Amino acid sequence: MNGFIYRNPVKVVFGNGVLAQAGTEAAMLGKRALVVSYTDGSVAGTLAKLRELLDASGVVSEEFLEVTPNPPIEMVARGVEKAKTFGADLVIGVGGGSAMDAAKAIAAGVLYTHGDLWNMVYASHSNVTAQPPEAALPLLLIPTLPATGSEMNMCSVVSSTTRGQKSYIWADCLFAKTAILDPELTYTLPPFQTACGAIDAISHVLEIYINGQDKCDLLHTWQLGVMRTIVDNLPIVLKDPTNADARAELMWCATCCINGWASPGDAWTPIHQIGHVLTSRHGINHGSSIAIMMPPWMSHFKALKPARYAAFARQVMGIDPPGMTDLEVATAGIEAFRAFIKECGVPTTLSEKGVTAADIPGIVEGVKTVSFNADGVLSCNPPVTAEEITEILTAAL
Ligand code: NZQ
Ligand code: ZN
Repeated sequence: MNGFIYRNPVKVVFGNGVLAQAGTEAAMLGKRALVVSYTDGSVAGTLAKLRELLDASGVVSEEFLEVTPNPPIEMVARGVEKAKTFGADLVIGVGGGSAMDAAKAIAAGVLYTHGDLWNMVYASHSNVTAQPPEAALPLLLIPTLPATGSEMNMCSVVSSTTRGQKSYIWADCLFAKTAILDPELTYTLPPFQTACGAIDAISHVLEIYINGQDKCDLLHTWQLGVMRTIVDNLPIVLKDPTNADARAELMWCATCCINGWASPGDAWTPIHQIGHVLTSRHGINHGSSIAIMMPPWMSHFKALKPARYAAFARQVMGIDPPGMTDLEVATAGIEAFRAFIKECGVPTTLSEKGVTAADIPGIVEGVKTVSFNADGVLSCNPPVTAEEITEILTAAL
């Protein structure tokens, strides 16, 4: 088992109807709240309730409703200005990963002292010049889309439209003080967003499971269990969007998939590094980008760890054909996973998103620019070369 340091200070308030506690939780953190959320009203009902709750608790609030998916740093800068002008002492993020990550970057940006906000971002893994923020305004996060786990981690993923890049800010000050997880807020999610979110949550564990350490029984048992729970509950929610039990399972799974429990001692997320380039260069939404890349990535590397992949097949996908080797079971499991993604309405090929073979060199260059380490490879166990990424992308067409 690898050694690790684990810390997660986020207070989680979980359950149907707990949005009602948002006012009192906010009042414990500040008096003037900037509420950060989407532009186009998909969570308008939640925002209206929040407004009333904040008023009733004596928290003065102002809204910054300019968040778009894959939050651009230019939008974050406008949010920072609004927070400063308003005199915010608390930032509340309401929405999916984009809204929560924007809230985090704004909360840090208000107190940032190292110049351009893009300096906060790990924009190159080979020449790390990032100056992560050291302080942020207190954060209250209210997820409405179970996916990214931003509500209980120290990461904010942002984009730069001018640079054509997407990468992350990683800093202790980005942990929220409090996260309010109310599964009822997710009932309005369209099937596509629900499915993309759940597949993304699986990926946060799968990346570590297949690329991480070889010996940690508890970790592997836990990883397989949380992935299985999502695979069991996603189809229920897609048929019955207000199924309270299944919505609650998905919400807690998504949070737990990326709050550190699934990755003690492991750090590699190479599929995400490719996914971010698919988003910044080709506009593919986050969940789809990861969904497309996972099966070909797994096929490429399965022979290195056949027993691990076979356990995924048996325990997550429920595939256990008799008389097969582990490698054959692994192959069947990957195909079952691909079919599952497809049945849930999420793309499984790059060509569905208009990407062709001619685009692949540019995508590989994008991965190199941001994510290759100083040794000229993508950090992973084992490290991955540009040639291998090209092969995997080609298989994903
Ligand atoms: O566009 P509208 O119609 O407003 O739809 C919104 C939103 O644009 C809709 N939505 C959210 N909650 C809803 C809802 N619609 C109806 N009812 C609700 N309750 O969902 C659309 C997509 O939202 P977005 O926040 O972009 O999705 P997601 O949660 O998948 O977040 C993706 C972003 O998070 C980053 C991704 O890279 C991407 O930028 N990630 C953040 C991570 C982190 N902080 O730890 C890790 C992840 O791996 C990921 O990289
Ligand atoms: Zn993700």
